[in-house]
Amino acid sequence: MATGFTTRRLNRRAFLGAATGTAGALAAGSLGIFAATSLAAKPTAGTRNPLYIPPLTTPTDFALTAKPGQIDLGGGHLSNAWVYNNFMPGPTFVASKGQVATVTLANQLTQPTITHWHGMLVSHENDGHPMSAIAPGGTYPYNFPILNRAALNWYHPHPHMLTGEQVAMGLAGAFIVRDTEEAALGLPTGAYEVPLVIRDTSLDRSGNMQYKPRSGGFEGPTPLVNGTLNPKLEVDSTVYRFRILGGANARIFRLALGDGAPFHLIGNDGGLLAATAPVTQIDLAPGERLDVLVDFGGLPVGTKVVLRDLRAGWDLLEFTVIRQVTSSYAIPTALSSIVALTAPLTTREFSFDGMSKINGKLYDMERIDFTVPLGQTERWRFRTSGNAPHPVHVHGASFQVVSRTGGRGQLYPWESGWKDTVLLEDRETVEVLIRFDAYRGVYLMHCHKLEHEDMGMMSNFEVV
Ligand code: C2O
Ligand code: CU
Ligand code: CU
Repeated sequence: MATGFTTRRLNRRAFLGAATGTAGALAAGSLGIFAATSLAAKPTAGTRNPLYIPPLTTPTDFALTAKPGQIDLGGGHLSNAWVYNNFMPGPTFVASKGQVATVTLANQLTQPTITHWHGMLVSHENDGHPMSAIAPGGTYPYNFPILNRAALNWYHPHPHMLTGEQVAMGLAGAFIVRDTEEAALGLPTGAYEVPLVIRDTSLDRSGNMQYKPRSGGFEGPTPLVNGTLNPKLEVDSTVYRFRILGGANARIFRLALGDGAPFHLIGNDGGLLAATAPVTQIDLAPGERLDVLVDFGGLPVGTKVVLRDLRAGWDLLEFTVIRQVTSSYAIPTALSSIVALTAPLTTREFSFDGMSKINGKLYDMERIDFTVPLGQTERWRFRTSGNAPHPVHVHGASFQVVSRTGGRGQLYPWESGWKDTVLLEDRETVEVLIRFDAYRGVYLMHCHKLEHEDMGMMSNFEVV
């Protein structure tokens, strides 16, 4: 499988052992202490747990099951969560452009669900629209060709008014698309390419994941990276590629490295940027993705570097350099050619009102709010009368962000290239250019603060 990741269909502990070069000892040790620690208290702050890496799989004839499960968030204590195939995050799908995905979703929850492939260009029937939701016990077949360019996309539930709860309880996973343009860059791969699903959570006194919805958005007091509490990752002194997903319901992170070193930003929601951009801080809203290179080259063994969230003041992930390697790898400067969308034929205005409406209307699953001609470039203007942040997300196409006025009044390097989710703060107007080239059919635009989405800040439109 030319996926770039090494294929590791191992269990969590075995993989972590393999990654640190002590497979036998760590795996055996972990299994040995499992019984003793499973009753222990939940991990306390200060204990660093090995970062979990979800298993990789090809989305071919894949049975994906959403169900309640128990997850070790680190330290051996099992927490109740909702999981895809016993994993949290769910398995990481890796596929190449041009391949066909065939996945059957099984709903073993006690409420309706449906899986949406966020960022993927798929037909309405494959998009996980809330009208496709299946009852408990039901199944839903997906079958779609992979049209996207190389990018980190993701999958999560999208049932009407239940998305916030299901994502907060743990249902989400990464979907990585590869293509030849990306392959030609020779980016870090295997153990040097690491997905990071960053979110927050609320744990009850027994350490179980719980959902405490608030209309302003669910924010939990505890960060999780790949479902791990207080994670750590041992690294070699070389360049790593981190594939980052904003997986929180509502929280926005401001990422920085503790030593002040820059991220070399190479991609975002829709794949590679035109050129590498060094940035020391990056805002990451729900639904957004980042592709960054971090250079640990030249750092002595034993050096610790943290990935920090400057907003909450959290040390999200601690890296420790454990091995010197000599690498001649040079971070590329030119990455991709991004053809700019131009000459929009229509301008549409969308006002994100309060916490539940777009253009004054609550979502109605049966109502089509507007129609968009296939293949026509349009300007969509998003603004808000307050209660932001609103991370605005569109299904069915990627867009290019062309301006932000009011509020922060500027665009950021991570908003260049192709996006499908853009952050709208109070008093801001953000303009994007968008063109639906893939399919006709009914798609969604919504606030990706999942509580706003569930309360109705969502709109159906039809590409005709
Ligand atoms: Cu990530 Cu409509 O969703
Ligand atoms: Cu989406
Ligand atoms: Cu919102």
